[in-house]
Amino acid sequence: MVDDQHMAIPAMATRIQALAVELGFTMSCDNLTGALLRVLVASKPQSRILELGTGAGYSTAWILEGMDESSTLTTVEYDSALAEIARTVIQDLRVEFHVCDGAEFISSHHHEQYDIIFADTWPGKFHLLDEVLSMVKPSGLYIIDDLNPQPNWPEGHQSKVDELIQMLDQRKDYHYVKLNWSTGLMILTKK
Ligand SMILES: C[S@@+](CC[C@H](N)C(=O)[O-])C[C@H]1O[C@@H](n2cnc3c(N)ncnc32)[C@H](O)[C@@H]1O
Repeated sequence: MVDDQHMAIPAMATRIQALAVELGFTMSCDNLTGALLRVLVASKPQSRILELGTGAGYSTAWILEGMDESSTLTTVEYDSALAEIARTVIQDLRVEFHVCDGAEFISSHHHEQYDIIFADTWPGKFHLLDEVLSMVKPSGLYIIDDLNPQPNWPEGHQSKVDELIQMLDQRKDYHYVKLNWSTGLMILTKK
């Protein structure tokens, strides 16, 4: 089996990637994570989805393809140039873009509940973890990637990742799986 053979890449993702490269942005997820997000989202119709760290919208495009007509996605990015790429290419009423600090978003939306949270930036992953986990509905999913060493990691990042995994290992209120797929993922579901 070849992981990415015959993978249908969303047309919007391809357009976004070209614009992201022009801007020099290299932190988009890969197609394996994109495909996994699309499957998980498609398995939960009528979902409220939160993405922390829109980037240029590459993962957003994959998530969107998995969404049914009743699902909604809120996506948060503090870099306005990146968010603008996502907003320009993804013109879909089901998607709400927030251009702000993820920490601010979390503190002003801590009472909200989501079926799926893809936490792909610092707040909600390396800090404010408990706050974001409390925003996952029972049976909802919390998804993170980039848990295996990556060439673009800053000095000292490994210990932060180790600490994060250890904290998630200790949670008794979630079932989880660790996947050596793509950049290394954890998927948790709230009991
Ligand atoms: C790994 S990238 C996201 C990639 C995107 N999810 C994808 O796969 O295409 C992380 C993003 O988080 C953004 N970011 C970093 N710190 C942030 C913060 N405090 N609040 C909001 N966004 C932040 C960065 O600008 C970057 O675009």
